[in-house]
Amino acid sequence: MVSNGISNTAFTLEVFGRKLTQHSETGIYLHFNRAITMFINFWYAAEESRNITDTPVHVKMLGQEFALFRDTAGKVHCVSNICTHRGASLAHGKVRGDAIECPYHGWQFRGADGVCAKIPSLGKDGKIPARAKVDSYPTQEKYGLVFCFLGDLPEAERPPIIDIPEWGDPKWRMTTMSVLWKVNALRGVENTLDPAHTEFVHPVMGFQGDREDYEIPKIDLIERDWGTGAKVAFVTPGAQGSVKAEVRGSGFTTEAESGHHGPTTTYTWIQFSPVAWSRQYTFNTPVDAFHTRKFFFQARNFALDPAADERMDVRTREVMNQDRVVMERVQPFFVPLSPTEEVIVPADRVITRYRERQRDWQSKGWLMDLDALDAAPKNKSYAIPSPARRSSKGWALDAIPLRPAGNAAAQAAE
Ligand code: FES
Ligand SMILES: [Fe+2]
Repeated sequence: MVSNGISNTAFTLEVFGRKLTQHSETGIYLHFNRAITMFINFWYAAEESRNITDTPVHVKMLGQEFALFRDTAGKVHCVSNICTHRGASLAHGKVRGDAIECPYHGWQFRGADGVCAKIPSLGKDGKIPARAKVDSYPTQEKYGLVFCFLGDLPEAERPPIIDIPEWGDPKWRMTTMSVLWKVNALRGVENTLDPAHTEFVHPVMGFQGDREDYEIPKIDLIERDWGTGAKVAFVTPGAQGSVKAEVRGSGFTTEAESGHHGPTTTYTWIQFSPVAWSRQYTFNTPVDAFHTRKFFFQARNFALDPAADERMDVRTREVMNQDRVVMERVQPFFVPLSPTEEVIVPADRVITRYRERQRDWQSKGWLMDLDALDAAPKNKSYAIPSPARRSSKGWALDAIPLRPAGNAAAQAAE
């Protein structure tokens, strides 16, 4: 089974010594130019739990390929998809007990540690080379999703998955959905952190610029361990059919706090009335630098009857699509490297802080080097480094290129 059918993302050509990459769907030529796009060492939502069975699933994340499967004891595993024998796709093989069997020559790799447990052609007593292992990534099942830790940090140092206190709480009704956007994940996150777009992009939430007294008051940052947010009050039309009208909060100014947790998780808590809340969480998984799979959760503490789910989801989809239409057209495709290539105003304050935090993660050496990946010859594959690489040497595939650790701001100025 193929989870997200995106394979060819880019074609590269060189013009006057400049490497340009063409987006496979928009046809736009891009120059990576050290773009900040994807980070290792975070938990990424890979797939809905219910879709991970004893038939392996092929999942693309951070532009790399993975095989996910549930072993016969029910434990979910995630391994690098490239068989270290001669490169076959493990996701198209079979589950055998606690291992995945390659479809090409039947080598078996244990899900828990990626160690090769069987090479049929060596016979029963053959010695299995230690280098035959594949990278295996920590997994967690939470909120109905499978999360994979794509990186090599030891357990105690891993940034946590965001807490969703409303999950499983009977005072809240939760709906979920997943969509694929042709948008760079970080650009998409910036849209969630942007309080000034609501007035113009979402007719049920704003007046499309028709209010003379519209402004975004000074934003106070709310700093949390792995992200920054801000609370902003909105005057909303409460148009017929809107949530605002449904909860009769028209005398109350809607308040919303939005923020991020790590590079690709966001939350938005909207208070429509003194008692009616919607709490949204999105896990934005970069399928690659050009596509984002959004796993979206929406909790509400009103209209708890499941019969209301569809009505809520229809509205949510409409609002998400309004964002998508704008976001799929922004240029450049990636956030510009230099703030001098944009004009930033106070309403963009959370976004500016989010970018600072990206520099911090880059300084830790967690930023993938897309230029180096792009320049790699076609006879080269990589793997995201797994925790086992910290203690064990001798890997068939090199770890993907990363921007060097150290002062990221200084690197940007080079
Ligand atoms: S390529 Fe996987 S066993 Fe040969
Ligand atoms: Fe929006």
